[in-house]
Formats: sequence, structure tokens, C-alpha cells
Amino acid sequence: MNFISIFDLSRAEIEALIEEGAALKREPKGARMRDDLRGKTLALIFEKPSTRTRVSFEVAMLELGGNVLSLNRNELQLGRGERINETAKVLSSYVDAVMIRAYLHDTVAGFARYASIPVINGLTDFEHPCQILADLMTIKEYKDRLAGVKIAWIGDGNNVCNSLIGGAAIMGMEISVACPKGYEPNKELVAKAEKMGCDVHITETAEEAAADADVLYTDVWVSMGDEDESEQIKNDLKRYQINEGLMREANADVIIMHCMPVHIGEEITAGVMNSTNSVIFTQAENRLHAQKALVLQLVR
Ligand code: CP
Ligand code: NVA
Repeated sequence: MNFISIFDLSRAEIEALIEEGAALKREPKGARMRDDLRGKTLALIFEKPSTRTRVSFEVAMLELGGNVLSLNRNELQLGRGERINETAKVLSSYVDAVMIRAYLHDTVAGFARYASIPVINGLTDFEHPCQILADLMTIKEYKDRLAGVKIAWIGDGNNVCNSLIGGAAIMGMEISVACPKGYEPNKELVAKAEKMGCDVHITETAEEAAADADVLYTDVWVSMGDEDESEQIKNDLKRYQINEGLMREANADVIIMHCMPVHIGEEITAGVMNSTNSVIFTQAENRLHAQKALVLQLVR
């Protein structure tokens, strides 16, 4: 089984992973060593930088008694033109699973076509499903439910937004996306979510999306790979910020979410990020617990 899209998991599978992740989280830090994955190796391939994804997967494997290899694409023959086809086949004979963070979604999907081991999407231009698994765990932790929870996404309809829409559709949540024209989430993905009964509301007005929201979620204005157009993007997105004013439009017990890294003063203010409503650091922590549950499921 692969985890390339959030749609690869069913509602029951996500619920089980969240439950397992929460149980793993209850084990105190410093007393989490297990040997479930003894003899198993996960390779991590990075085409782009990463703090949370890399470290949480590395610690997850180490605490579960397995091994982990972090590889930069440019250190591999991939960086010199070796095809993904042969790389996938060779790595399948050495390791038990591969996580890839790539520019193009096709790189991860293509790798999976030629691999005979589970492949995990560690972020592409299209989706970031590992992030959303941890986010759903976080929302459950604070709201004690997922079905019926109202999420408002503020900003670029990017990879994280796409996977969040998928997660909302699978778990029976409501989602509104506020973004300027040209920054909408992927149309086919939205259509798929709507076919599952999720009403994905897209608006250009941040206040409209935020009204009565239980969750306010944002991400960087300029994603990795979009740097060449950063001036234009920043200008287009300047009205899409989670600030104190926008927070007042949402429910009083709204939780503030951000996948990190944050750019304070752009998509979020320091006051909101550090407010008692912010669960941003719990999200980051939950990457570890949710991914432990995921790798146990995929490689044990
Ligand atoms: N949220 C997230 O994936 O962070 P990194 O880019 O640091 O891995
Ligand atoms: N949308 C951001 C997420 C970073 C974790 C990016 O792709 O750079």
C-alpha cells in the first residue's frame, strides 16, 4: 500500500491511525523506544528542504526500533539523470519503504509505479498528505470530533490546501477556501471531494470563509518552487492573512492552524500565532505520532 494522496485512506483507516497516533503520544518522551520495526529501513528522498518531515520520520523510525536513511536527490544518481524507474527498482531491493519529497507529483507517482515497496508522499506540488494526517489528529484532539467541524482555509489554494480538502471530504467536515482568483485549489480534487458529499465553498473574501469557523488554517504565501514569482504572489495574497480581526469572525473557540514554516507578518500575525487559540506547535508535534502510526501500518 502507498500513501501518495490523502484519498488513499478511508475514513475508518484515518480514524484508526489517529487513535494509534494518540496512543503513541501518551508514551512519555524519553520512554518511547520499541522494537516493532527492528530490521526495517525507511529511505527518505528530498528534492526540497525540510525540517518537520525529515526529523519526524527519522525519530519515528528510530523510536520504533527501525533504521532510516535521509538522502538528498543530488547525492543520488537521480541527480545526474538516472531514471526514477531503475532507482525505484533498486531501492525496493534494499529498503522496506520510501518517502519522497519532490517538486512534481508525477515523480512520487512514477516512483511508486516501479517500486515494489510502500511509497509515501512527503510533499509534492499537488499534495501533502502526511501533514493532513497529523492535522486531523490535532483537530480531533482539540475538538473531540471531526465530522461537522467547519474549516476555513485562508490563502493560496496549494498542496496543503488540496490535501486538507480531501481530508475534510473523507471525514465529513465542512471547508471554505478564501483565495484570490488564480489561486484556487485543484479543480479535479475539489470535484472529487464534492462527489463524496463535501460542499467545498470557494470565495475571494477571507471574512466570508472565516465566519463561524471552528478551524482557521493558513500556509506560506510562497511555496517551495514558486520563489521566482514571489513578489507577484505576495502582492496578490496580501489581503489573505490570519490576524486578530479575522479571528473575531470565527467561533470564539476557533483553533488556529499552520503547517509551518511560518512567515510572521505575511500569512499570519505574531499575536495570532502566539495566542491561546493557536495549536500550531501541536500540529508539528503530531507529525511524529501520526507518522509512527502510518509506518507501523505500512511496513510492520
Ligand atoms: N510542514 C512541513 O512539512 O514542514 P517541513 O517543510 O519542515 O518538513
Ligand atoms: N505549501 C508549502 C508547505 C510547506 C510545508 C510548500 O509547499 O512550500
